[in-house]
Amino acid sequence: MKVKVAINGYGTIGKRVADAVAAQDDMEIVGVVKTRPSFEARIAKEKGYDLYVPSNENNEEFKKSKIDISGTLVDLLEKADIVIDATPGDTGEEYKKLYEKHGVKAIWQGGEEHELTGFSFNSEANYSDAIGRDFARVVSCNTTGS
Ligand SMILES: NC(=O)c1ccc[n+]([C@@H]2O[C@H](COP(=O)([O-])OP(=O)(O)OC[C@H]3O[C@@H](n4cnc5c(N)ncnc54)[C@H](OP(=O)(O)O)[C@@H]3O)[C@@H](O)[C@H]2O)c1
Repeated sequence: MKVKVAINGYGTIGKRVADAVAAQDDMEIVGVVKTRPSFEARIAKEKGYDLYVPSNENNEEFKKSKIDISGTLVDLLEKADIVIDATPGDTGEEYKKLYEKHGVKAIWQGGEEHELTGFSFNSEANYSDAIGRDFARVVSCNTTGS
């Protein structure tokens, strides 16, 4: 069975992570989250990723742009095993509570502080220490080898 991956934040980092995940045989993208119907929203659709919004407040703009969305982040978390959080830095604390509530593992980017997860991952330094953890932060997108 494939690992079901949600991408919260489909911007500079999120769209690259999504493509890397989609290239794996043992993972699948269950959806990506955007706040606005900008060009990345159309790219996500073209690539076949289901689009979700952080909350229903974001629905109207997507409707006006005639871009279909599949639901909210909470709906997406119900389908996911893990979420890659690529939202802007400092949203981590709030989202961590939500991920915990829904029993979903999560990986954050370097925009968050080490203290958010207590574990900062670098594939060359502490790969095996990451195994089995519910939460991790990657040090930076340019130091993970991803
Ligand atoms: N860019 C880099 O080179 C770089 C390098 C190292 C680390 N990082 C870290 O990676 C993370 C993401 O950075 P980025 O450069 O990819 O940012 P970005 O291009 O601004 O993308 C952020 C994404 O998050 C979405 N978003 C904004 N507010 C949100 C919210 N409250 N809930 C859910 N989604 C929300 C945005 O949606 P909309 O586009 O629809 O507004 C966008 O898709 C940050 O922690 C950053 O510090 C970035």
